[in-house]
Amino acid sequence: NKRSVDNLRSPIVCVLGHVDTGKTKILDKIRHSHVQDGEAGGITQQIGATNVPVYAIKEQSKMVKNFQGNEIKIPGLLVIDTPGHESFGNLRSRGSSNCDIAILVVDIMHGLEPQTIESIGLLKKNKTPFVVALNKVDRLYEWKSHPENDIATTLRKQKQYVLEEFREKVNGIIVQFAEQSLNVKLFHENDDPETWISMVPTSAHSGDGMGNLIALVVKTCETKLARKLAFSENLQCTVLEVKAIQGLGTTIDVVLTNGRLKYGDTIVLPGTEGPIVTHIKGLLMPQPLRELRVKNPYDKFNEIQAAYGIKILAKDMDKALAGTSLLVAYNDDEIEILKEEVQAEVSEALGSIKLKERGVFVQASTLGSLEALLEFLKQSKIPYAGISIGPVCKKDVVKASVMLEHDTQWAVILAFDVKVEREAQEIADSVGVKIFTADIIYHLFDAFMKHREDLKK
Ligand code: GTP
Ligand code: MG
Ligand code: NA
Repeated sequence: NKRSVDNLRSPIVCVLGHVDTGKTKILDKIRHSHVQDGEAGGITQQIGATNVPVYAIKEQSKMVKNFQGNEIKIPGLLVIDTPGHESFGNLRSRGSSNCDIAILVVDIMHGLEPQTIESIGLLKKNKTPFVVALNKVDRLYEWKSHPENDIATTLRKQKQYVLEEFREKVNGIIVQFAEQSLNVKLFHENDDPETWISMVPTSAHSGDGMGNLIALVVKTCETKLARKLAFSENLQCTVLEVKAIQGLGTTIDVVLTNGRLKYGDTIVLPGTEGPIVTHIKGLLMPQPLRELRVKNPYDKFNEIQAAYGIKILAKDMDKALAGTSLLVAYNDDEIEILKEEVQAEVSEALGSIKLKERGVFVQASTLGSLEALLEFLKQSKIPYAGISIGPVCKKDVVKASVMLEHDTQWAVILAFDVKVEREAQEIADSVGVKIFTADIIYHLFDAFMKHREDLKK
């Protein structure tokens, strides 16, 4: 069980920032993928995870000066994408809580925005080291792209007035960071990384600075975090999302930070109705550079050693809770102890979901999005009386129909990113339960508000 800096695991890199600063686009550029194009409304509404192998790091950072790809000691990066929209604070918190390092993405044209500040708060709370991506440099007037060059060289090649605008934006952002008690500098002017946080100008569109960003993350990990990244056999595994997938049933997406998972392992994890004890029936991963949260072909494994983002198939996952630890019982005697251990976490997670006697029914594809939706309803003072994860079926409609006896305005199911079974829709229509569906949380809310107005008329 010896840990050694000669055997490093992949660092877990969380990408944080205000909505639309380009977090997903940056990852798309690194992955050569188009995840952002496929997002409803271009908004990220779930946590993602991507395994970035070392060959991709080398390939993408070869233009970076003073960075030798062949000296990289980490096996890759496990990158966690988070939503920047206001109501997904729970997912930002969850995504950032177990990461080793973060990339804070700032739109160079906008500077620090509300969720940038919120993210800084999370990073400070967890004492997470981070680098800043000053994204969208291509939007500077007359910017000339040279993604094949080191960004420091590209900057020198810009016209005088482009550089002046750049300086002005950067100086403003330095002041804004100072207001958050943080000292930041452009990375190529930072000769004291212990004191100053580095900022890399990037463009997820043109690719400028992307290599420098990756190289900086790798360098920071290997210098500041080598000890922490020494692989440990002690299992450390967090449930990211609980997700119903057609053909696979309800699955869980996990981040395996340390230790290993094997096919057949007895796992113990928190559930909505108490601890769940079950066996791993499938260990799946998307191909390298493919996003775990997007439907992709999966590869099957018998054993996976940390760190990776993994989809687990197992029975009884429909009641699993995201954002909590997953434990493995190596012998039967351990099961009861582990159940107690996770129970403590369950009480905490469920404590935050308080149902009212009267209110709407809420369903979502994942617990994370359900929590975000509930948070939104809470802020809007709309009570909820029932929650569920997965497609809307008959029993859900029957539950919601109870509200018809009290107040028709609550005989409503708000269904986010889930299917409505035909039978369920038919019963709803006949008894008078309204089902609203949407794949953007705000649209669901708007539809409900309009419905309430119509009822009043
Ligand atoms: P959320 O996940 O919803 O918080 O947004 P995000 O931070 O992931 O941003 P996203 O990748 O969805 O990009 C938002 C918009 O900015 C999209 O229209 C992108 O095409 C655009 N964008 C992202 N990066 C750049 C960039 O470097 N330059 C320019 N010009 N546009 C960019
Ligand atoms: Mg995004
Ligand atoms: Na977006």
